[in-house]
Amino acid sequence: MDTHLISSRHNLEGDDPIFRINTIAQSRQAQGHPVINLSIGTLLDDDGQLVTLKTVIDTWKALTPLEVHPYAPIMGDLKYIEAMTHRYWPESPTPVLGCATPGATGALVVSLRNLLEPGQSVVTFAPCWTPYETLAFENKIKLEKVPYLFMGDDTPLAVIESKLESIMKQQGRILFWLNDPCHNPTGQHLTTAHRQALLSMFDRLSQQGPVSVILDLAYLEFARDASAIQNILKDYAEWGASTPALLGAALSISKPLTLYGARCGALVFPWRTDDQLKTALSISCRGLFSNAPRAPQSLVKKLYGDKSLLQKLKSEHHHWSTLLTNRADQLSKLLSEKHIDHSHFDGGFFITVPHDKPQELSQRLEAQDIYSVPLKRGIRVAICALKEKETPRFVDALHRSI
Ligand SMILES: Cc1ncc(COP(=O)(O)O)c(C=O)c1O
Repeated sequence: MDTHLISSRHNLEGDDPIFRINTIAQSRQAQGHPVINLSIGTLLDDDGQLVTLKTVIDTWKALTPLEVHPYAPIMGDLKYIEAMTHRYWPESPTPVLGCATPGATGALVVSLRNLLEPGQSVVTFAPCWTPYETLAFENKIKLEKVPYLFMGDDTPLAVIESKLESIMKQQGRILFWLNDPCHNPTGQHLTTAHRQALLSMFDRLSQQGPVSVILDLAYLEFARDASAIQNILKDYAEWGASTPALLGAALSISKPLTLYGARCGALVFPWRTDDQLKTALSISCRGLFSNAPRAPQSLVKKLYGDKSLLQKLKSEHHHWSTLLTNRADQLSKLLSEKHIDHSHFDGGFFITVPHDKPQELSQRLEAQDIYSVPLKRGIRVAICALKEKETPRFVDALHRSI
């Protein structure tokens, strides 16, 4: 029978898996069950309350009507784009080439629209943030995965190079979404040696065709060691300024300011000037979402441009990064005591526990009212939502179920 829905949209898989699991967990919790919900990437305190940052709230409350109500420019407010960029790369030249987007999600989508032809493949690590699949699918792009580079294991390097070579041969260009540092879901940074090996690979491939690398930087404020993040960003900046490849970054305020619902981010190319790229970005903005919200752009300009506010924000980030690190260390200790393999936490909101049958494992956990996200070869554990007092129960349940 005919339906109004076009045939390519028939029988699609339903809800986003992360939001679906979270909804089940929340409804069980509302019925009074002892739920441990480790599914969604939202920072909660040890009472299970959403973490909000006072500096952000105070700045938001002080916004004037004219900083909230008008449309923002199509590509976003240039001062906002520069504030976002200079937060991570204070020395990058101005004006910054880039556009404001609805979250890092919007930035990733804009990168697909401009750096690949429909039907081509974007490459990323496995495991990855699972919605990458949907972002690619919805934009008529395929998602190809290469193994994540874990510390002490160089074997994936050859696999990655051969896969990239073959994609370059097939489609004449490469787009790599590089979620480093603070990788979701492993919680790790690449080692310096692995990062340099990967960047050299991109340099070599650039001799065969255009290589674009978009850093997906959603979690930088929540790391074990803030100075490690700065060094990594410096390495990327040095490479971005000298490589024939195109280096860009998908930036966000969702986690950095715990403003998940404000839906604001940016796609920036701080080491490039290119009028054609600029025009293409502006057309993507108009054609996909018209422009990103004005209020969060006004907020970022105020917050990131004020030294004393930044100092307050820094101490709030330090507080919550310490809490996340303590949670990760407590969890790691208990997992190690039970000989349960897991990723080492450098930063971000998650760690992973490898497993051959992740769907079955997460179902066994769900039967005990513990909700995590199954990946292809393990489960993702949201330490951002793991209360200290619940960690022993989680580890015991995992031990029984594994
Ligand atoms: C790795 C990664 N990239 C991008 C995003 C999207 O973030 P935003 O809310 O800024 O769209 C997330 C959100 O969880 C993420 O984990």
